[in-house]
Amino acid sequence: MKTVTIHTLRDLKSRGEKFPVITAYDASFSRLIEQVGIEVVLVGDSLGNVIQGQDSTVPVTMDDMAYHVSAVRRGNSKSLIIADLPFMAYASEEQAMMNAAELMQAGAHMVKLEGGAWLEHTVCLLAERGIPVCGHLGLTPQSVNKLGGYKVQGRDEQAAEMMLKDAKLLEQSGIDLLVLECVPAALAKQISEELSVPVIGIGAGADTDAQVLVIYDMLGLSPKVPKFSRNFLAETGSLEGALNAYAAAVRDGSFPGPEHGF
Ligand code: KIV
Ligand code: NA
Repeated sequence: MKTVTIHTLRDLKSRGEKFPVITAYDASFSRLIEQVGIEVVLVGDSLGNVIQGQDSTVPVTMDDMAYHVSAVRRGNSKSLIIADLPFMAYASEEQAMMNAAELMQAGAHMVKLEGGAWLEHTVCLLAERGIPVCGHLGLTPQSVNKLGGYKVQGRDEQAAEMMLKDAKLLEQSGIDLLVLECVPAALAKQISEELSVPVIGIGAGADTDAQVLVIYDMLGLSPKVPKFSRNFLAETGSLEGALNAYAAAVRDGSFPGPEHGF
């Protein structure tokens, strides 16, 4: 695999070629992901759940994120590495810039933040300063306490319209990628069609430009595997086989199936 940049991903979208994204938190998995040729690695704050055993991503700190980003970067020199800004690390514009800088210096190529219109100016400031941003709409786990649980978002017409508006606003502000989590498949399809930046889905149906899974979910290691995931390790019997099968299934459109969506 050639070194992946934001242009690689835009080109894939413009050719209608779907690409896989997967989370990683350490150098060993990151190395395997590079070997298999998966374009994008997300150092997600899901590490709060799967590495730390927390019941949400709220306790995850900037120090936690920087530590895992640096490990993932050491294992992989080809994939594009996205790092989550954790809970409250971008509450103010000042904090967003300081903390995004720290993750970039730890080895990230892009930062991700959760939310819509309120992040308009933050995204502009980061983009202007040379920091690519990935947006994240739909189920935004850092807001679980305000959302009142892990639920599908954008089900009614008003919420769907709002999400489409937020997605366009984020694009105008300068995001280079967008994650949609737990969104009805039809809405995710519409947003993917209307944006020119690649849209990455998780629990968002088969019609986004890319898919992402938490690596421990697709290896069957998580105690509660979500409905939208699939155990690729059980199907293949090796870590490399599981990652290869996931990448192939995303590229040929066989994952996710209708049973994984909302
Ligand atoms: O933290 C994470 O792993 C994520 C993905 C589920 C999109 O944000
Ligand atoms: Na996350």
